[in-house]
Amino acid sequence: MERLAGRVAVVTGAGSGIGLATVRRLSAEGALAVCVDVNEDAGKAAADEVGGEFVRCDVTDEEAVRALFDGVAERHGRVDIAFNNAGISPPDDDSILVTGLDAWERVIKVNTTSVFLCCKYAIPHMQRQGKGSIINTASFVALMGAATSQIAYTASKGGVLALTRELGVQFAREGIRINALCPGPVATPLLLELFAKDPERAARRLVHVPMGRFAQPEEIAAAVAFLASDDASFMTAAQFVVDGGITGAYVTPL
Ligand SMILES: NC(=O)c1ccc[n+]([C@@H]2O[C@H](COP(=O)([O-])OP(=O)(O)OC[C@H]3O[C@@H](n4cnc5c(N)ncnc54)[C@H](O)[C@@H]3O)[C@@H](O)[C@H]2O)c1
Repeated sequence: MERLAGRVAVVTGAGSGIGLATVRRLSAEGALAVCVDVNEDAGKAAADEVGGEFVRCDVTDEEAVRALFDGVAERHGRVDIAFNNAGISPPDDDSILVTGLDAWERVIKVNTTSVFLCCKYAIPHMQRQGKGSIINTASFVALMGAATSQIAYTASKGGVLALTRELGVQFAREGIRINALCPGPVATPLLLELFAKDPERAARRLVHVPMGRFAQPEEIAAAVAFLASDDASFMTAAQFVVDGGITGAYVTPL
């Protein structure tokens, strides 16, 4: 299906995981994928694979983000889709009792401030067009608490939800849809490696997932493609949960 034929899509964190699966999916649906990453090799490889364009950009750098969206509009005439997805989850972000201010500030900057900046510089182009779809990556942890905390990450994703809701409402009458995506745990190489080393930890985690498995990145990409497309034309300011049932579960079957 070519739901996105002729559309220009900016994807941050395009070099890996959910971002990479998404540039593949959006391209397959006809969009031109602008693959944005701070990792030049990974971002370039993604762009080469899908016949898209690579832009190196650190999404925490205001000037670079402004230049990213203005540059895309200048070169391609429009910015139809912005998937603001780049994020980090570093090991020094842990319980509040041991997490330092440096880790807190780093995580908030990459996960939340970047979304603020990407929305700030994408929206004016969409206002000019009278149309656009923004999808901000949050997480299921923005909706539920965990005793095994990553306090800055959780707060950063809660910020993404609140920011997205407000922007969705503010720009709803200008044809710009702004939604947050809340993925459950995804079977990325990093997560699999972590759990391969510790099967007991993996099993403890999977008990909370009614489907009994982690998501494939392609399953999250399919949700992004839906939100990006006109199939989601009446959706804005929403929290779109793709989590294998985690947030619906009180107890799960064995
Ligand atoms: N993997 C999961 O289980 C999961 C679950 C819920 C939400 N998420 C969220 O989904 C998003 C993508 O996660 P993923 O697992 O695909 O991550 P990943 O680590 O596989 O990929 C993230 C990409 O973002 C890039 N990046 C990091 N900092 C950047 C910066 N400052 N500027 C530009 N690019 C930068 C990295 O180079 C990398 O290519 C993140 O926001 C993450 O928090 C992931």
